[in-house]
Amino acid sequence: AQTAEALPRAPVVTVMGHVDHGKTSLLDYIRRAKVAAGEAGGITQHIGAYHVQTERGMVSFLDTPGHEAFTAMRARGAQATDIVILVVAADDGVMPQTKEAIKHAKAAGVPIVVAINKIDKPDASPDRVKQELVTEEVVPEEYGGDVPFVPVSAKTGQGIDDLLEQVLLQAEVLELKAPVDAAAKGLVIEAQLDKGRGPVATVLVQSGTLKTGDVVLAGSTYGRVRAMLDEDGKAIKSAGPSIPVEIQGLTEVPQAGDEFMVMSDERRAREIATYRAGKFRNTKLAKAQAANLQNMFT
Ligand code: GTP
Ligand code: NA
Ligand code: MG
Repeated sequence: AQTAEALPRAPVVTVMGHVDHGKTSLLDYIRRAKVAAGEAGGITQHIGAYHVQTERGMVSFLDTPGHEAFTAMRARGAQATDIVILVVAADDGVMPQTKEAIKHAKAAGVPIVVAINKIDKPDASPDRVKQELVTEEVVPEEYGGDVPFVPVSAKTGQGIDDLLEQVLLQAEVLELKAPVDAAAKGLVIEAQLDKGRGPVATVLVQSGTLKTGDVVLAGSTYGRVRAMLDEDGKAIKSAGPSIPVEIQGLTEVPQAGDEFMVMSDERRAREIATYRAGKFRNTKLAKAQAANLQNMFT
């Protein structure tokens, strides 16, 4: 393996909070996108992964669903992240998935920045939100704690510059670094079988640079990266640290949360994947199965 110098990298920021408190709307405002409006039932059902160029550098965002059914995704988001933005609607206050998000962030040991959202609403009560969060041991700086609280509105955009400022300040303290000129490693954020494209996986590169043509071992599957798309569906050839990217070319669908790594030896990658999948290594059947699957999608 190469030893490459670690260089500054963008923070990975996960947006968490109770259902409908405005996580996706906040990211839409930041990205000038309209994801929330197109969601079935207005509910996020998968982890969205984006990277955004701000005036002070790049930030990557993971959007998690607030619905109670998606505990595992929130846990995954917390694991993959450097900083959590905890979104709490000022007209609703601390709710069950707010508490759960706090638990995940604390378990992962990542700093929290609180976004008190929907302050444009007439019944918004940011002070009540503060009190409720103190009860959960998320204490604002003004009460002697170390958590930045920023009142925002995803509707009007009020406070969103301040929020980004606070996130970038937290990131500076963390002095995040990763090698760039090295074989890529990272995490599978999500994966599914696409009818036309075969297994597709959204991965977060955590170190090194992932390139098309690379052989990837991801959990108990492997494959050669045939194509990579950014979050706007644009084909890209490489993705460096902190960049989320959708890859095609894996022989099977990996598990969300799996680690992935680039390997120089495709046969070795296949062997490890086969072994991890619990199949008999080097049997004719295992080989035929792997070859068949790969042929199906290449
Ligand atoms: P889940 O992903 O389903 O947990 O929801 P979410 O937290 O992503 O919330 P979403 O962005 O879907 O917003 C929920 C509703 O609140 C939508 O109708 C938004 O338009 C509305 N909303 C979000 N932010 C604001 C805000 O700052 N002000 C007002 N007035 N409405 C907001
Ligand atoms: Na929603
Ligand atoms: Mg959402």
